Amino acid sequence: MRVAVVGATGYSGVEVIRLLQYHPRIELVKVFSSSQDGVPLRRVFPHLTNIFEKELTLIQEQELIEGVDAVFFATPSGISKEWIPALIDAGVTCIDISGDFRLDVDSYKEWYKKEPAPSQYLEQAVYGLTEVYEAKVKEANLLTNPGCFPTASLLGLAPILKTDWINQNSIIIDAKTGVSGAGRGASLGTHYSELNDNLKAYKLGVHQHIPEIERYASEIAGSPIQVTFTTHLVPMTRGILSTIYVDLAASKQTDEIIELYKDYYKHSPFVRIRPEGEFPSTKEVYASNYCDIGLLADPRTGKLMIISVIDNVVKGAAGQAIQNLNVMQGWDQTTGLLHTPIYP
Ligand SMILES: NC(=O)c1ccc[n+]([C@@H]2O[C@H](COP(=O)([O-])OP(=O)(O)OC[C@H]3O[C@@H](n4cnc5c(N)ncnc54)[C@H](OP(=O)(O)O)[C@@H]3O)[C@@H](O)[C@H]2O)c1
Repeated sequence: MRVAVVGATGYSGVEVIRLLQYHPRIELVKVFSSSQDGVPLRRVFPHLTNIFEKELTLIQEQELIEGVDAVFFATPSGISKEWIPALIDAGVTCIDISGDFRLDVDSYKEWYKKEPAPSQYLEQAVYGLTEVYEAKVKEANLLTNPGCFPTASLLGLAPILKTDWINQNSIIIDAKTGVSGAGRGASLGTHYSELNDNLKAYKLGVHQHIPEIERYASEIAGSPIQVTFTTHLVPMTRGILSTIYVDLAASKQTDEIIELYKDYYKHSPFVRIRPEGEFPSTKEVYASNYCDIGLLADPRTGKLMIISVIDNVVKGAAGQAIQNLNVMQGWDQTTGLLHTPIYP
């Protein structure tokens, strides 16, 4: 399969490029940038020196997309919605890592403050939370990859949302991310002296992942769900840790809940449920496509605590995007993705 990456000079794009090297069935043929034309990719990312048999050079012209079977979009919001309709109409498979196709028309306008993609393409897009929507992903040709926080949060919540064991409107998601979540561009908020030795909450009540989590949590639960969601920036490069608190409506022990999660994810090779008393940290999934989940039903407070960790640029972006393409192609979902996390 011949693929292209648009947004190849960014963090998610370069992670798609890194991971595709291990993929036996995909050839990366084109890399796009809107700012650099004719520049070898290794100049933008020197760690890619001598990695490819044939030098990859950044190209700009949109028409050069011709001759590819699939395109990954790793662009800021507002870009892929301009490109994807024509590509889909031309029969090219599209995987969008941005948020352009994750919401409906009204929610996109409200939360992204931009004009949405034409509604027929929004309706056609399949939400690629692979572990939950595998059957739909198999049929997709326009795949909208989940956001990084929604991936960690929804995987942490999905099994319990399917039960009547919780009060569904008591969900609090306290999430923390490493700074690569903000992309490669420099900004005051991600400046070293602003970030180092610091911990801060940001985008409270206005984060664009709120409607995404609520939309798909409601779909999974089969009833409307609202969540309290806070995001924090942590002085580390990669990783997301979501601590989720939910009121238990039924008296349940931790071991019963762990069994529920293990059963729900028994065909999901990238979700690892930790044994009782073990809680994952971000380093334990670093640079891998795993989502690790630890659980505690606290008998004292009657709350369920869920710790869900991912690498934001792998399971939260590039890795999950490739996992989805694998499913769309009918290949084993782990193809090219079974890397052990890097530790320490
Ligand atoms: N970082 C994460 O952890 C993460 C996780 C999940 C999802 N995402 C989503 O993935 C997307 C990319 O995020 P990122 O963190 O990789 O950002 P990034 O590092 O800032 O990269 C953005 C890329 O988009 C390109 N770009 C900018 N304007 C463009 C335009 N008009 N046309 C075509 N390309 C353009 C940029 O390259 P040029 O300027 O060279 O064109 C760059 O390669 C975002 O939508 C983000 O929300 C990110």
